[in-house]
Amino acid sequence: MVLSAADTAAVRALWKKLGNNVGVYTTEALERTFLAFPSTKTYFLHLDLRPGSTQVKAHGQKVADALTLAVDHLDDLPHVLSALSDLHAHKLQVDPVNFKEILSLVGFEHVH
Ligand code: HEM
Repeated sequence: MVLSAADTAAVRALWKKLGNNVGVYTTEALERTFLAFPSTKTYFLHLDLRPGSTQVKAHGQKVADALTLAVDHLDDLPHVLSALSDLHAHKLQVDPVNFKEILSLVGFEHVH
């Protein structure tokens, strides 16, 4: 996937604004996902999914670090995300519908 110059600038500006709080927002996004789309919880039955759970927070931080790595390599996304892509597609077998429809709805719109 190739981002336009405008999209690249928008993503970089957003990440600058998020500063050290990326993990806070990804954890919130996870909690909203589990609330709004309970079927997503089936992938995380081995974790404590209650609001404020340290396990959800730890997972949110992992997601945050992966996204920050991606933002640092926007010109090389397929390469930088390939291991995570394989993990979700083949090992975890996450239904692609979860990426297409759900993530866009629970995104970062409230920080704009
Ligand atoms: C922006 C999209 C996403 C990103 C950046 C992302 C990132 C990650 C990362 C970094 C890990 C940890 C990998 C590791 O420990 O090596 C992970 C694990 C996982 N992800 Fe995702 N993920 C995304 C979307 C999803 C979605 C939509 C689902 C399912 C609804 C999902 C389900 C899982 C599961 C089940 C694990 C394993 C959790 C565990 O056992 O610790 N992910 N993801």
